[in-house]
Amino acid sequence: MDSINANNSIIHFNEKCYVSLNKHITDKNFSKIFILVDENTHQYCLPKFLENLETIKAIEIIEIESGEINKTIDTCIGVWNTLSELDADRKSLIINIGGGVITDLGGFVACTFKRGISYINVPTSLLSMVDASVGGKTGVDLGHLKNQIGVISNPNLVLIDTDYLDTLPKNQMRSGLAEMLKHGLITGENYWNEFQNLSNLSLNDLDELIYESVIIKKNVVEEDPFENGLRKTLNFGHTLGHAIESYFLSNSNKKTLLHGEAIIIGMVLACYISTKLTGFSKETTLNIKTLFFSFYDKVEIKKTDYPAIIELLKYDKKNNHGNINFVLLETIGKCKIDCLVDNDLIIEAFEFYNN
Ligand SMILES: NC(=O)c1ccc[n+]([C@@H]2O[C@H](COP(=O)([O-])OP(=O)(O)OC[C@H]3O[C@@H](n4cnc5c(N)ncnc54)[C@H](O)[C@@H]3O)[C@@H](O)[C@H]2O)c1
Repeated sequence: MDSINANNSIIHFNEKCYVSLNKHITDKNFSKIFILVDENTHQYCLPKFLENLETIKAIEIIEIESGEINKTIDTCIGVWNTLSELDADRKSLIINIGGGVITDLGGFVACTFKRGISYINVPTSLLSMVDASVGGKTGVDLGHLKNQIGVISNPNLVLIDTDYLDTLPKNQMRSGLAEMLKHGLITGENYWNEFQNLSNLSLNDLDELIYESVIIKKNVVEEDPFENGLRKTLNFGHTLGHAIESYFLSNSNKKTLLHGEAIIIGMVLACYISTKLTGFSKETTLNIKTLFFSFYDKVEIKKTDYPAIIELLKYDKKNNHGNINFVLLETIGKCKIDCLVDNDLIIEAFEFYNN
């Protein structure tokens, strides 16, 4: 798999990762290296990473608690303080080893500490490999509202070593797969069709699909880094998906929904809405729903949940001038951005998901 040049970062895959990493560290002569992990990536991923890291520089490990609930400004303050106490300077490097929480938060910490220091992302969850670590979006949540604070800034390198997936829990694998399915729906039949036999996908198939997904995301981001048009298509399923994720996160009596699980629901809803507003095929929508339900548990969303979820839409980052902007599908691979959807249709879409 060839390395990919994406904006100002270079993405390396599997065996090329560590050669490039070691060369980069030698070439740049960083003053100190800080590695950010959570308790899981500390246990499962850091040992392998350190085995491959060749440097005589001082290395400090900073561990934060795992989980979306910790993707906050308070956690950043903790990491900024630790960096400061450990004498990090503007020539220091941060290496973020983890899922999207670590790469989002670690990227944000790096590009705000002393007005910005270098960082490298080593995504270890499927979701962070195909999505979070590519494209330069960094940031944290504000209370239960997702990704409200952040900046766009690119890591020096992204190192995608799919061996890390060996220890990733199955539900997290499914969560990451949701973003790959989204890439299929927004880019075209060729990639989408590779997922038609979801339950029989092997890890080998996955390596190639991950590579393709990264290229899809990279191409979109490169054409529209600041989300003025094309990049909005990556938000397919995310308008309602994020609202559902936030709603479940903030309700202690609801089960915890992973990001990808919420996006799967959001995509079913967006497909249904598309059938009403853009002429997207009803038959394809039913097939998509059936395929998703063959792999993802149906989540209980009660009628009484609808108003609160709809209320949360107003915090969506794609909104402007008070309008809530949806990405819809005209056909597989052809998106329509900035679509306005009324609440009755959203409720109808929830009913479609539920029945
Ligand atoms: N920046 C972006 O463009 C972008 C895009 C999509 C999602 N995101 C963000 O990504 C986050 C979700 O990412 P995520 O699903 O990776 O969540 P996560 O970082 O919480 O990781 C999921 C869980 O898997 C564990 N884990 C990670 N790698 C592991 C491994 N190899 N072995 C064992 N356990 C491992 C983590 O410790 C965590 O418990 C959300 O905050 C979302 O907003 C960002």
